[in-house]
Amino acid sequence: MSHNLLKGKKGIIFGALDSNSIAWKVAERCHEEGAVFTLTNAPIAMRMGAINALAEKCNAQIIPADVTSDSDMENLIDKSMEILGGKIDFILHSVGMSLNIRKGKHYTDLDYEFMKKTLDISAISYHRLLKICYQKDAISEWGSTVALTYIAAQRVFPDYNEMADAKSLLESITRSWGFHYGKAKKVRVNTISQSPTKTTAGSGVKGFDGFFNYADSMSPLGNATSDSCADYCVLMFSDLSKMVTMQNLFHDGGFSFTGVSQETVEKFNS
Ligand SMILES: NC(=O)c1ccc[n+]([C@@H]2O[C@H](COP(=O)([O-])OP(=O)(O)OC[C@H]3O[C@@H](n4cnc5c(N)ncnc54)[C@H](O)[C@@H]3O)[C@@H](O)[C@H]2O)c1
Repeated sequence: MSHNLLKGKKGIIFGALDSNSIAWKVAERCHEEGAVFTLTNAPIAMRMGAINALAEKCNAQIIPADVTSDSDMENLIDKSMEILGGKIDFILHSVGMSLNIRKGKHYTDLDYEFMKKTLDISAISYHRLLKICYQKDAISEWGSTVALTYIAAQRVFPDYNEMADAKSLLESITRSWGFHYGKAKKVRVNTISQSPTKTTAGSGVKGFDGFFNYADSMSPLGNATSDSCADYCVLMFSDLSKMVTMQNLFHDGGFSFTGVSQETVEKFNS
């Protein structure tokens, strides 16, 4: 159901790869709520072609950009403002990739060239994006940016590997940019820490199903779905969350503050 929460707002949505992607659901919800936006993903992801169906559905143009490339990102911001006809009101950064996980390297034996790439794609890209927007004065006052993160930034989940370090950096960049961009232009910068969700990136983590079921049984409300994550993003892009910035917002059915659940304890009762 639409409440026109984003009527008149212009955005950029990163990271819709296929219909399982969290960004895909966010794009659909933002469209329902009256926003106009551009879609972007790495040039290599375009080859899969799925994003075209989303673009058609949301009446959005696609601008390919590798988040590690300054020139791609500059072009993305310039073109988005040109297409949308002015400054940007909201941005979703829904981007993550770990080379060490892909190559099966354990945390105790990381390849540092892979790790640099992981940090660049999954964390520094949020800094790069905000820096380019700041220098071009591309985001409206009270504009809102959100990046997606995971609780492994604060607690150890061994198979999350180097992505834990990437997410810690991402959340730190959020606080720092939130301060500077808030002071200078009243732009809001936050992260949403989402439950395990069955997507291409999520399922790349070793033992994902166990991970998913454990979190579900520990969370009083169960795992948060990608559809409910999309609702939360809409709230964060809307004027109803105007004074929220520099935050890491848990969207996880209560998982982050639960010590143990009855179901979990029962598994250990002899
Ligand atoms: N799925 C989960 O369990 C989960 C939980 C918490 C947070 N997150 C985070 O949500 C975000 C979205 O992931 P998802 O689960 O929807 O998976 P996904 O695989 O659908 O999305 C990841 C996206 O990152 C894009 N990407 C990778 N390298 C890129 C580059 N160099 N330039 C531009 N784009 C690039 C991919 O093409 C893809 O669209 C990620 O930051 C992920 O860490 C996911």
